[in-house]
Amino acid sequence: MISQSSHGRKRPRTRSFTRRVLTAGLVGVLSATGLAGMSGSATASNHTLAEAAASKGLYFGTAVAHNRLSESDYVAVLNREFNSVTHENSLKWESVQPSRGNFTFTNADRVVNHARSQGMSLRGHTLVWHSQLPGWMNNLSAADTRTEMNNHINRVMGQYRGQIHSWDVVNEAFQDGNSGARRSSPFQDKIGNSWIEESFRTARAADGNAKLCYNDYNTDGINAKSNAVYDMVRDFKARGVPIDCVGFQSHFNPQSPVPGNYQQNLQRFADLGVDVQITELDIEGSGAAQADNYRRVIEACLGVSRCTGISVWGVTDKYSWRSGGTPLLFDGNYNKKPAYDAVLQALGGSGGGTNPPPGTGACSVTYEQTDRWGDRFNGRVTVRAGSSAISSWRVNVTVSNGQRISATWNGSPTWDSSGNVMTMRPNGNGNLSAGASTSFGFTVMANGNWSAPSLGSCSVN
Ligand code: XIL
Repeated sequence: MISQSSHGRKRPRTRSFTRRVLTAGLVGVLSATGLAGMSGSATASNHTLAEAAASKGLYFGTAVAHNRLSESDYVAVLNREFNSVTHENSLKWESVQPSRGNFTFTNADRVVNHARSQGMSLRGHTLVWHSQLPGWMNNLSAADTRTEMNNHINRVMGQYRGQIHSWDVVNEAFQDGNSGARRSSPFQDKIGNSWIEESFRTARAADGNAKLCYNDYNTDGINAKSNAVYDMVRDFKARGVPIDCVGFQSHFNPQSPVPGNYQQNLQRFADLGVDVQITELDIEGSGAAQADNYRRVIEACLGVSRCTGISVWGVTDKYSWRSGGTPLLFDGNYNKKPAYDAVLQALGGSGGGTNPPPGTGACSVTYEQTDRWGDRFNGRVTVRAGSSAISSWRVNVTVSNGQRISATWNGSPTWDSSGNVMTMRPNGNGNLSAGASTSFGFTVMANGNWSAPSLGSCSVN
């Protein structure tokens, strides 16, 4: 059984049946304490990001925009691949308290309710931040700024007490560049340096079970800005100011690439006695280069035992805040990108990607969904020969109860008596030279169940 304690993440060496049963039974209990995301989607397979991450003791999350929850394709991928959710905007100050004393949680609730209905854990983003702060906060006295800061923390954390595993209590308090100074904001300018620790103390009192994080960007490598955050966290730990975690946003592009000392930086924070989380990962680019950068980030987190989870900043490129940079794992049509395959593989998962792993056995198979309509979807299975030529192959495709395969192409199917298991063989000769691939396809009538079929292993006789 995986546990996440104040001592950090423990990784199971193998995934046992016992563990799966235990985690399945504990989802309801754990969601109250916020640990469900680590295990809520754990099943027998590791074909999704959430499952593969769970097998390493991590959650795998995404930012969610409440207004996308009415799009069925979006929801299908969200539910299938992720087990943790961060509100992209609807929990920010301007969203929940647009005018003074007027709290509105309708949109934030939509995200919370969806996540909870799926057994996903939630990150809380964010309580005190200079940006997306409503105008009325700019015109207050020092005393009122302080009162409102504490009131906001109390009210918002109180609203979701027990439902959020980690809160970004303070976001982006430091300046970019070499100064190591704190950034100008109503909090900094009116209250002075003490506002950050006061926020954390108020947050601890508001929800004693939530992990309290400081979150920032351009702090992913070792530099003046991350040094300043490091000094603050060290000071907080030394003086008993409550802080449990540091979030590394990890927004990367060619101007701000994945730093060479990323893992080393995560580790030095972990060594201060806090958890570290990758909170808003997105990497502009495409193809193999983007995939390689994603792989490096996952490996860095896996290399630090107190790195407890990874969240990407959105499900699909088309809704990314930086959509021009196509920085996410799914393209605008919800196809898995090479970056997806790289992440899944780095997490030890298998079989879900578009790029078959280099063949080790006689042949290997991968699955991807290629189309989707209101009532059905098409799947494609790619069969790849290993290091030797093969002259035949065979693979089982199992659909869930209620689903039905209504059409197939490029293969010759037979069925078991339940009708759920299709054994596909080549249509004609099955010759594949070493490393070569072929694919077959099929249509699944969903009947309300959008789970991906599960693939058996590929055999050559
Ligand atoms: C971004 C959202 O993705 C956008 O939709 C919004 O317009 C601006 O904020 N750092 C953060 C996130 O902490 O809250 C930001 O999210 C991205 C940068």
